[in-house]
Amino acid sequence: MKKRNVAFELLVFESLEELNRQDRDLMLLAIDARKDAYAPYSNFRVGAAVLLDNNEVVIGNNQENASYPSGLCAERVAVFQAGAKYPGIIIKSIAITARSKNHLVDKPVAPCGNCRQSISEYEIRQKSPIELILMGESGQVMKCHSLADILPLAFNNTYL
Ligand code: THU
Repeated sequence: MKKRNVAFELLVFESLEELNRQDRDLMLLAIDARKDAYAPYSNFRVGAAVLLDNNEVVIGNNQENASYPSGLCAERVAVFQAGAKYPGIIIKSIAITARSKNHLVDKPVAPCGNCRQSISEYEIRQKSPIELILMGESGQVMKCHSLADILPLAFNNTYL
């Protein structure tokens, strides 16, 4: 038996102001996108902004449904839209932020498992890492270098 440790680097910033210009601007677009989320059931609004290699930004926000599982998270709305509008263009980073009507979200929100799997598909396909910049409504911002970092042992097409 061998023991292996899986570790990854996470950058923690005390606030939005500490980010570099490009990341901060992307997060500001995610914050702006958040307000247009359709989240009448959870009251939890999520905004995402995807930065592409051609410098275009594609936004997304969560879109809920009376039939709950039919809704979609902000990250997948954004990434699928990027894939549809700019096929073949590399995704460089994605900024994610959330706000709740019920409480202050004061820690960074990380993508759910389904979104990790979906973003992973794009990362593998484009053969270059997608950076994640994560925030709540206020407080610390976290950044990781690659989606693969937060989805170790991912399922992928090599198993098929
Ligand atoms: N949600 C997202 O949009 N992204 C996430 O990473 C986590 C959850 C949405 C789904 C649902 O509309 C609401 O937040 C509550 O789960």
